[in-house]
Amino acid sequence: MEIVKDVYCIKTVDWDLKTFHGYSTPYGTTYNAYLCKGEENILIDTAKYYCEEQFFKMLESIVPIKKISYVISNHAELDHSGLIVKLLERSGATLICSQKGKENLERHFHREFSKIIVVQDKQTLKIGNISLQFFLTPMVHWPDSMVTYLPDKKLLFSNDAFGQHIASTKFFVDEVGLDIVLREARKYYANIVNPYASSVKKVLSSLDSLDIQMILPSHGLIWRDRVQIETIVEKYSKWAGNEAGQKILIVYATMWGSTKKMAERCYLEAVEKKYEAEMMNLSIKHISDIVGEIPEAKILVFGTSVLHNQILPEMAGLITYLSGLKFIGRKAWTFGSYGWAEFPLRKFEAMLKEAGFEVPHTGFYIKFVPEQQQLVELGKFFREKILD
Ligand code: FEO
Repeated sequence: MEIVKDVYCIKTVDWDLKTFHGYSTPYGTTYNAYLCKGEENILIDTAKYYCEEQFFKMLESIVPIKKISYVISNHAELDHSGLIVKLLERSGATLICSQKGKENLERHFHREFSKIIVVQDKQTLKIGNISLQFFLTPMVHWPDSMVTYLPDKKLLFSNDAFGQHIASTKFFVDEVGLDIVLREARKYYANIVNPYASSVKKVLSSLDSLDIQMILPSHGLIWRDRVQIETIVEKYSKWAGNEAGQKILIVYATMWGSTKKMAERCYLEAVEKKYEAEMMNLSIKHISDIVGEIPEAKILVFGTSVLHNQILPEMAGLITYLSGLKFIGRKAWTFGSYGWAEFPLRKFEAMLKEAGFEVPHTGFYIKFVPEQQQLVELGKFFREKILD
């Protein structure tokens, strides 16, 4: 697909992908490479190794592989570099990447690259009639990551940044719908990029001076509408700033339904007070979908039952996952039901604190099945101490 004159998107669609290193991808994904045609042809990124046939067929329909002179690797992770060695071997092209990119590609493919240009932050290169500028974006998503800017056409090839896991026949955000794409971009940010929020802020500030007509990520849809570009950049800025949203998220794992009753009581209190509240049952919702809602959350409420003197394994798994994602400083609160000992639920509070949450109030715990009066007390505590 020709995106603008002489710039093509080689979009490999992975319709079947349902999980991406533990992140659920119910809509599949795409691996977007981009071809810039000119006096010298330049390819930006490749695709995942098992998409070889699709990738090379699309690429060869636009240009003979032998006519590709340069291959830019914006990021060494295998969903973008999986076919890079095959491409370099077939084309004889020169590799362009960051110093970390060189190191990481060598470690992935156990070879040295003889024809290589290592670029520095903000370096420009003129290749034939095409000018390029590179911005190193370490930790967005890996230490090797960088983005490539094409100043003549005002295109930013952003790799993982601003991406979304959406397989589609469409190419542009406005063809699919901003709300859907934003939701998936937020899930992507929260699950992939959030631990590196301080790096995101630096990247946003270094890209601030660029005149950007399109953002072309390596997953999902391309941002081409100016308002939508401003929207996603503002969202990244807000998410990286860890600004609280409006939602009350009630996340729970239940064994015999007692914790669920408590979750429902909290939910009804929140709705009655006109909060935007959402119940998330861990046996139904994937943890990556729960995490995807956290950037919009004001307060997170976690409830669990106790099994073998531990919180339920689904909840423990979520907290372990959250510990790595670093949602620093958000308010959290706990509730739950236990059989004979309350202490696992006290440990639950400590686990959330260790994961970076503020837990200003002790939790509300009930032995076995809650009585009506206990639910009333829970609702009152939640309404007066947590919501207000
Ligand atoms: Fe899409 Fe960090 O790879």
